[in-house]
Amino acid sequence: MHFYDILDEMFKDFEEYKDIHKGKGVRGTLITTISPKSNKLAAVVEAVHLASLLHDDVIDEATLRRGAPSINAKYGDFTAVMLGDIIYSRAFFELTSFNEKVAKTISNAVYLLSQGELDDVKLSCEMNLDKEKYMQMIYKKTASLIEASCKAAALEEGFDENDFGLYGKNIGIAFQIIDDLLDITQDEKTLGKPSMLDFKEGKMTLPYIYLYEELDELEREKLKSLYKKDLNETEKEWIKNKMNELGIVEKCYNEAKELVKNAKKAIQKYNIPKLEIIADKVVDRKF
Ligand code: FPP
Ligand code: MG
Repeated sequence: MHFYDILDEMFKDFEEYKDIHKGKGVRGTLITTISPKSNKLAAVVEAVHLASLLHDDVIDEATLRRGAPSINAKYGDFTAVMLGDIIYSRAFFELTSFNEKVAKTISNAVYLLSQGELDDVKLSCEMNLDKEKYMQMIYKKTASLIEASCKAAALEEGFDENDFGLYGKNIGIAFQIIDDLLDITQDEKTLGKPSMLDFKEGKMTLPYIYLYEELDELEREKLKSLYKKDLNETEKEWIKNKMNELGIVEKCYNEAKELVKNAKKAIQKYNIPKLEIIADKVVDRKF
């Protein structure tokens, strides 16, 4: 049974909310690519991810998720938080049927991703210019669950979990860097949510950290004056033009490409072409 069908089965008591978007399924696909028998594990991880997005949309006050109204926008914050708790609890119930090392790998990642979300909120209070803090935060928030998914699938197959963990960590960090870049380079229609929302929410993502480093004094003051503001089209264009002019977009892409290269290197000897294709898709995508 495909992991999406197992997910449906897990939540059949909550049919009225079946419009919850199931997402791209990156984590589940990684798991079943590494370990074809692990559809249930894939469903568990996708459920954890789904729960975290329900909570994240409440925290970010997001009204759209993949072009459709978010659950908090449609049913309110209380429902979104509790549905997140239900999905998360059910996922953990299912996780207890796996061996201890697999269960610990996934549950530790949830501990990390929750810390990452808190760090994201804390870092959004003021203009963070520290790249290391940003990298640590995206590792925890996004890469930790992708890393754990790959490790757990490797454990199920008897592969070296460190090789697959390294693959997952690298594509996970690259994935978030690209996400943060697309927030700037893509339009609302492609993104399925308003563009350049991160800066308005106070999120100093990698492109903004690099941009600040390259701007002159006067321009830095201008960027500071736009921070957390509802930007008009002219202001958005100014930021985008500066990012292109100063090679920031290219610099971020290259950094993500380098991570993908390292990811592929980590699992090269296993010769699983689909994992290389997934790694390339992390960087080569529009949304
Ligand atoms: C999306 O980030 C958010 C995450 C990847 C993690 C969110 C984690 C929690 C809310 C902790 C609670 C966890 C559980 C399991 C209940 P983003 O806002 O940068 O991405 P987006 O643009 O897709 O919203
Ligand atoms: Mg969010």
